[in-house]
Amino acid sequence: MSEMASTDPEGIDGVRMTWNVWPRTKVEASKCVIPLAASISPIRSHPDIPTLPYAPLRCKTCTAALNAFARVDFTAKIWICPFCYQRNHFPPHYAAISETNLPCELYPQYTTVEYTLPHSMQNPNNPNPDPRLSPVFVFVLDTCMIEEELGYARSELKRAIGLLPDNAMVGLVTFGTQAHVHELGFSDMSKVYVFRGNKEISKDQVLEQLGLSASGRRAAGGYQKAAVPNAFPNSGVSRFLLPASECEYTLNSLLDELQPDQWPVAPRTRPSRCTGVALSVATGLLGACLPGTGARIVALVGGPCTEGPGTIVSKDLSEPVRSHKDLDKDAAPFFKKAVKFYDGLAKQLVSQGHVLDLFASALDQVGVAEMKVAVEKTGGLVVLAESFGHSVFKDSFKRIFEDGEQSLGLCFNGALEIICSKDIKIQGIIGPCTSLEKKGPSVSDTVVGEGNTTAWKMCGLDKSTCLTVFFDLSSSERLNTPGTINPQLYLQFLTSFQSPEGRSVLRVTTVTRQWVDSAVSSEELVQGFDQETAAVVMARLTSLKMEMEEGFDATRWLDRSLIRLCSKFGDYRKDDPASFTLNPSFSLFPQFMFNLRRSQFVQVFNNSPDETAYFRMLLNRENITNAAVMIQPSLISYSFNSLPQPALLDVASIAADRILLLDTYFSVVIFHGMTIAQWRNMGYQNQPEHQAFAQLLRAPHDDAELIIRDRFPVPRLVVCDQHGSQARFLLAKLNPSATYNNANEIAAGSDIIFTDDVSLQVFIEHLQRLAVQS
Ligand SMILES: *[C@@H]1O[C@H](CO)[C@@H](O)[C@H](O)[C@H]1NC(C)=O
Ligand SMILES: *[C@@H]1O[C@H](CO)[C@@H](O)[C@H](O)[C@H]1NC(C)=O
Ligand SMILES: [Zn+2]
Repeated sequence: MSEMASTDPEGIDGVRMTWNVWPRTKVEASKCVIPLAASISPIRSHPDIPTLPYAPLRCKTCTAALNAFARVDFTAKIWICPFCYQRNHFPPHYAAISETNLPCELYPQYTTVEYTLPHSMQNPNNPNPDPRLSPVFVFVLDTCMIEEELGYARSELKRAIGLLPDNAMVGLVTFGTQAHVHELGFSDMSKVYVFRGNKEISKDQVLEQLGLSASGRRAAGGYQKAAVPNAFPNSGVSRFLLPASECEYTLNSLLDELQPDQWPVAPRTRPSRCTGVALSVATGLLGACLPGTGARIVALVGGPCTEGPGTIVSKDLSEPVRSHKDLDKDAAPFFKKAVKFYDGLAKQLVSQGHVLDLFASALDQVGVAEMKVAVEKTGGLVVLAESFGHSVFKDSFKRIFEDGEQSLGLCFNGALEIICSKDIKIQGIIGPCTSLEKKGPSVSDTVVGEGNTTAWKMCGLDKSTCLTVFFDLSSSERLNTPGTINPQLYLQFLTSFQSPEGRSVLRVTTVTRQWVDSAVSSEELVQGFDQETAAVVMARLTSLKMEMEEGFDATRWLDRSLIRLCSKFGDYRKDDPASFTLNPSFSLFPQFMFNLRRSQFVQVFNNSPDETAYFRMLLNRENITNAAVMIQPSLISYSFNSLPQPALLDVASIAADRILLLDTYFSVVIFHGMTIAQWRNMGYQNQPEHQAFAQLLRAPHDDAELIIRDRFPVPRLVVCDQHGSQARFLLAKLNPSATYNNANEIAAGSDIIFTDDVSLQVFIEHLQRLAVQS
């Protein structure tokens, strides 16, 4: 299969599947242990994707778009839909179609095409740009911070505003004890609308108070419904959301004068911070001004919400912010209520088509775990840093506003629809999207993530957005009559979105895979297994189950799954562990599972709930290559005697005369062996005769720079020496092969491989023993 080529495993389609050959029946599929799932990058850029300046033809029965797999009868001018076998007539403008004159979407290599639809609002002769085509940002800035932190946040915000294109629309909300909406279209004197922080506020109340409700608007300027359908929906835009070019000066002076929240904070208490009210107000403002237009709320939050809706902890400092233990024991009194509040906010944002981005910078937790639902369901970005002065925040924040090669390519108003061959059912999606509750015959009764639908909303999406779709097969019997049915299955992904330039785009990806009768032979099934994708899908599913299923034992579930998989697909004689071997298409999978069970996704107690939420949001939205690094970090070794080379993720890779570069996705660690560190401390690299040493020292830094430059969020860079305190960042990720472990006394018949930290070797031995058991 060409898309399995190692350089670009996703090919033109941006699709990878756990199984590239599908079993024919539900029963056979369940024996495969690893679910039938596809990871899709719906708008990943690829040089070979053609752009077509017209709308696609759609099947009149199932609405699939015409695609390269349709059978065409050129004389009758008919195409047969590969999904439902409906015969569709070509419309008159396809009359010239023939074997030698094909429209682009029928070329066999163009399984992914992009249709650019004429935007009804687009008019090149219109001097006033349509606000619907401008990027819109409402900044929501926390002011309950020490002067220094607020200073960092302020200057990064000013830099960002300077980077915005002139037509970008900007609004500002600041908050502490109260929330303040700043009226920017008011040049002489700054005008502020104040909202109490301690009370939940309805959408109508927000509008009333800002003078944006229907009655307020009429009073304010004789607003007439439908008077100017193409222009600003109401006067709110000209008061609160202004083009960057017009309000940059006002905004900058406003930010310069901004003080930390002035409300007194009693001793031994937290400041009162109304994050929830501030976000409600920003959401209401956007809903009133630009409903249905792509827009982002960019929140900079420096501490926990302690006031009003969304509160995660009391003001009493002797009461710590909830931990995983508290959540486990149901001893986090604010948690459920706050999540419910953000779930409601998510619904409102999704119905308006708006995105919530969260930049949390604090030493303590700020409530990322509670806000996760609103960020993830709207396709927002999230960055967690220790300080607004840290490069993890600063460099990531800047990336949002950059254009050119470094641009994230932020798109808006996305929607995904999936069409599948008969007998394929969709269970749901894990990733940054919300169900649009579109029912149909391909909806499965079993729900995974955002399910019970064949269409999803993605208010925000970008080039790297990735979604995981879980499939199921119908339990009908028809598949048992081979020869009478199509040996190929088809899936079509239709993604509509608004590009950063304001174009309306519909991308159509149609993929096919083969059905096999795996009851007869599992050979083809084995060859079609994608172990990297399978590892990532298992990580995503495990994380979801840990969040959704009370008392879910992740380690046990992963171990059982791995043992079942190895029993089914390994080669062995019963009860003879030494005879066990795995086909190369499975051979890396046990190590992935070994690292997954030790990872931050499963061992959550080493992190705060905010960190776990952060890690999981990124696990769910990144592509397979990046997500695999989160599970199983990459390690490169640098030494005098050889070129940089991949090293085993094992303590045995540490050596005094080596430098190691570890990439865990969230951080990049440069680790100097003892001797290297000594030479460096003595300054050898500065002596002309030690040029080679200088080069050796520099090489991992150059490589780390390359990794950091392309990644969002920007990872944390840790530079450390063997035996130094920061060395733990490396050691925590390495296989503890050198530790003694009396591991051979595992109870026979137990299906748990291990609960403690064991080495990979011991893990594999036990896996083999359990897999061959009759
Ligand atoms: C799916 O949607 C239907 C109708 O909207 C609803 O009755 C049913 O409970 C939903 N099922 C699940 C599993 O959410
Ligand atoms: C995954 O994403 C990274 C950056 O986000 C990109 O450099 C890489 O090419 C992507 N991989 C694939 C296979 O698309
Ligand atoms: Zn059809």
